[in-house]
Amino acid sequence: MSAEAARGSRPPVVEMRAVSKDYRLGKATVAALRDVDLEVRPGDFTVLAGPSGSGKTTLLNLAGLIDEPTDGAVRFDGEDTVRCGAGRLSGLRRDRIGFIFQMFNLVPVLSLFENVEYPLILAGCPRAERRRRVRDALSKVGLGDRFRHRPSELSGGERQRAAIARAVVKAPALVLADEPTANLDSANGAAVLGLMERLNREDGVTFLFSSHDPRIIAAGRRVVRLRDGRVESVEDGGGRP
Ligand SMILES: Nc1ncnc2c1ncn2[C@@H]1O[C@H](COP(=O)(O)OP(=O)(O)OP(=O)(O)O)[C@@H](O)[C@H]1O
Ligand SMILES: [Mg+2]
Repeated sequence: MSAEAARGSRPPVVEMRAVSKDYRLGKATVAALRDVDLEVRPGDFTVLAGPSGSGKTTLLNLAGLIDEPTDGAVRFDGEDTVRCGAGRLSGLRRDRIGFIFQMFNLVPVLSLFENVEYPLILAGCPRAERRRRVRDALSKVGLGDRFRHRPSELSGGERQRAAIARAVVKAPALVLADEPTANLDSANGAAVLGLMERLNREDGVTFLFSSHDPRIIAAGRRVVRLRDGRVESVEDGGGRP
């Protein structure tokens, strides 16, 4: 499905209303997010920008149902997650959300194939279908000839592409990425970004990711700028047409 077709009239994948997040450190309270409204729609390609400490990771953790807000509402696919129990939240994370990390976070003792297969095993996907989907995901990221390699036998750019394959293999409703290009040189960073764009355009994969890099930020179709835990601006229509 194209990104355009994926958007349409379906409810937002993530909807945050008046969300605040405080962290308590001893007697001090850090207001990491204040009164944030955010919508992520199916097919979006949204980048979170903002200086260090502005709340990007905190916001991604809330969107990924890894953490819960101090105040406000977080809906996932229309479901009020503040009312969900821990079992339901972990089910949503397992089945509906893909994560890409700055440090790649591949399992070192597993082959590339096994790393990408792992989320499908957790999801109870049958073996023959797993093989097909893992092969498909790895060839999509240009690693179709690296199945047996361990992560340590891959370059940084290849590791991040493998992590992208792992994030998209279960066809999640949302892929979250916290500074996915921060540990890559500019050529590999551009390749990873190009791959994310292609998955968005061709397969309708919905991305919400953060970056410090002005070139990466410029590619976001929607740019949400955070400052001191608040949404400073939302720019639509940037990036490619
Ligand atoms: N677990 C925590 N305990 C206490 N304070 C925290 C915690 N996590 C984050 N913070 C604080 O919340 C604020 C937002 O942090 P966050 O990690 O979301 O920023 P960021 O925009 O991702 O920054 P960076 O670009 O450096 O990754 C910061 O002031 C940070 O110090
Ligand atoms: Mg961060």
